[in-house]
Amino acid sequence: MPESRCLQGIWSSPWIFIFAASGAAVGLGNIWKFPYVLGQNGGGAFLIIYCLCLILVGLPVLMAEVALGRTVRSNPIDTVNDLSERHIVHPLWVFVPWLAGITGFLILTFYSVIAGWAMAYLERAVTGSFHEISQAGALDMFNALLASPTEMLLWHSVFMGLVVISVGQDVTRGLSAIVKILLPALIVTLLLLASYSMVIGNAREAFDFMFRWSWQDVTFDVFLAAIGLALFSLSVGMGAMFAYGAYMSKRMSIARACSIVVTVDLTVAILAGLVIFPLVFATQIDVEAGPSLTFVSLPIIFGGLLGGQVFAGVFFLLLVVAALTSAIPMLELFVAWLHERFYIARFKAALLMGGAAWLMGVAVLLSFNNWDMVLIFGLNVFELLDGLTSLILLPLGAILLSILVAWVVPRSMLQNEMITKQSNHFQWWYTTLKYISIPAMIVITLAGWIGV
Ligand code: PFF
Repeated sequence: MPESRCLQGIWSSPWIFIFAASGAAVGLGNIWKFPYVLGQNGGGAFLIIYCLCLILVGLPVLMAEVALGRTVRSNPIDTVNDLSERHIVHPLWVFVPWLAGITGFLILTFYSVIAGWAMAYLERAVTGSFHEISQAGALDMFNALLASPTEMLLWHSVFMGLVVISVGQDVTRGLSAIVKILLPALIVTLLLLASYSMVIGNAREAFDFMFRWSWQDVTFDVFLAAIGLALFSLSVGMGAMFAYGAYMSKRMSIARACSIVVTVDLTVAILAGLVIFPLVFATQIDVEAGPSLTFVSLPIIFGGLLGGQVFAGVFFLLLVVAALTSAIPMLELFVAWLHERFYIARFKAALLMGGAAWLMGVAVLLSFNNWDMVLIFGLNVFELLDGLTSLILLPLGAILLSILVAWVVPRSMLQNEMITKQSNHFQWWYTTLKYISIPAMIVITLAGWIGV
């Protein structure tokens, strides 16, 4: 299909895809979610299983999404509709991109609330609230934020507004320029913070916890958590990377581009762990504290740091921007579809979808305070949406999208896409996807669900 048929534009240079996709991947998942899921799942064994999941499942699935996106140069919903009209796939497959879009949308509802926490902490950082803060003080600060629906509502609304404005524009514009500065700045800041945290904290126990293998931690639950986090962190399983692949230049090798994205994503996550765990083991912070882990540890690190106010300000600003570049693709699927299919202006489509996600986000933020007694299956709204998306919808979406690409779409269609003069990674990718990634996802997900 000629590149000019793409309605929304092509990334102007092959590298822009790498920046944009890394921007989508690196976000709260790396800095907020990875440390707490690692903490809840025992440490070292989880990290190794997580790396395996990234390489054997995340990378092949990421490549599958990007390859299909680039082959057809359209949004996932229209792509599958089109393939079904041409009798290439059964009409029932149309359900898969819908599931993917709904998953991205549901993630956005709570992602925006957590990004709101980062914004609230940005404000505290620049006003010097972390100065010499104690552990009890950091805990109180976090609990005070959770207890205030109005403050959370304010920041959730500001963040969602930024998402709507960004998605309302053509996504190929501006994004990569931001990510080009954001990623190196984030990595350097995390490196500095990790070094400092290792000096003031308990580096030895942190290393032991993060990198020591222990057989007793290996359960199907840990595998399921690792797969869920790998998919979440790479933003795959919900059609986001499919949409970005649709804008990717033919000159770039998909295997190379996706390997870089996975490497950057893992590097940021491990660095975040190296910032947080030395401090956790030097204080009484509970490793299994869950979603509060990052937000309680960081102020203590900044509080004792020379120039901590500036450092904290820069860090939380970077975190908010990283969250924004990750949140954009969550809406992209439906916005691109509404725009391409019904010619609805991108901004209007973004407003519609963002407005709906904002409303659900209000229920999420209330689940931390006024509605904390409202339980569904024993979980509050946040826990329900987080668990539903990471442990059920993302693995399901990734399994179905991968089966679609590996077993249903004709091999020749993908082969043309993957084999270029510079690279020929088709065979290993196709074989890994078919015989390792898909069976592994199915076994682990089913075993995790039935609680083996
Ligand atoms: N990968 C993002 C992160 O780690 O923060 C989260 C995410 C982005 C999930 C985009 C889903 C998505 F479509």
